[in-house]
Amino acid sequence: MTEDVRGLIRRLDGGDRLTAEEFLRLLETPDEESDALLRERAVAKRKAIYGNAVFVRGLIEISSYCKNDCLYCGIRRSNGHADRYRLSEEQILACAEEGYSLGFRTFVLQGGEDGYFTDERLVPLLRELKRRHPDCAVTLSLGERGRESFQRLYDAGADRYLLRHETATKAHYETLHPPEMSFERRMECLRQLREIGYAVGAGFMVGSPGQTAEHLAKDLAFIQEFQPEMCGIGPFIPHKDTIFAHEPPGSAELTCRLLSVIRLIKPNILLPATTALGTVHPQGREMGILAGANVVMPNLSPTDVRKKYALYDNKICIGEESAQCKDCLNARMKSIGYEVVVSRGDPADAN
Ligand code: SAM
Ligand code: FES
Repeated sequence: MTEDVRGLIRRLDGGDRLTAEEFLRLLETPDEESDALLRERAVAKRKAIYGNAVFVRGLIEISSYCKNDCLYCGIRRSNGHADRYRLSEEQILACAEEGYSLGFRTFVLQGGEDGYFTDERLVPLLRELKRRHPDCAVTLSLGERGRESFQRLYDAGADRYLLRHETATKAHYETLHPPEMSFERRMECLRQLREIGYAVGAGFMVGSPGQTAEHLAKDLAFIQEFQPEMCGIGPFIPHKDTIFAHEPPGSAELTCRLLSVIRLIKPNILLPATTALGTVHPQGREMGILAGANVVMPNLSPTDVRKKYALYDNKICIGEESAQCKDCLNARMKSIGYEVVVSRGDPADAN
């Protein structure tokens, strides 16, 4: 590790802001020694706030219909081979009910941008979810919507919203998305969610096609600037029915290095060790936690639909029941000395 990199890590650890140019220097020359130092500082920061707790979020994948056409995604609308499904309101409530009895206190409703899920359908669903489980947090991850819609869903009880910015570089964004999607619109949605009062999750894929270290440095600068309450990062994984089918996947090692840096940028951030990280490496989620992540998201979707929510190839956890996923993750976390906790896990007030 160079003295320059050691100095940058020390400054980040001390609470300094770095410029995009400095983040670039931190990313350009990864080596085991600096990886280990980043991991060690990130884990110390997280432990000071959260101890050994790993928060668990029950993921309910409510629809694989999507009107968007993101070039990397297996459920993009122009994928004629995708097997589509949508859960009914009763099925979603039943998944939450089961999750609740397994101890989950946060539910993440995620799906493609499915026109079926209008505000008229989502508002009563959210109210009912909150009526049945007033002690639970509800996170939505349903893509871009209008400001008014975000507001109505918030008023109906949604607490948090995950909308990855995908890349903080406009030109790169445009190579990953069709012309009708816009970088400015994505960023505007994030600002609106913040203004309304949601706890907001941004994030990006690691190793997405065309991504350079400069792009990642800008992603880090954006996270530092925007200060999201949550940040979802995971490796890009190709899907056979997309134009990126033959692109290489992102690496678990680089994802972990970035998790450590993000932990240092915002010590109290909620940072998942994602399913994609567990897909590119059999111990990916454990590696993520040991690099500074503090959230895991077992799948609560009904088993018969899981393989249809195929964003990328070879996704894990598609055959297991919800209880099996929960037990599996509990055991995995225990094996590395961490404890899965069932609380809502609101962002802790750091500093
Ligand atoms: N429709 C919502 C949205 O756009 O935010 C939520 C679902 S979307 C499929 C969730 C995330 O999956 C995206 O933000 C993207 O980063 C990730 N994703 C999509 N395709 C992927 C791939 N091939 N590899 C890894 N992650 C992928
Ligand atoms: Fe789903 Fe291991 S977490 S089976």
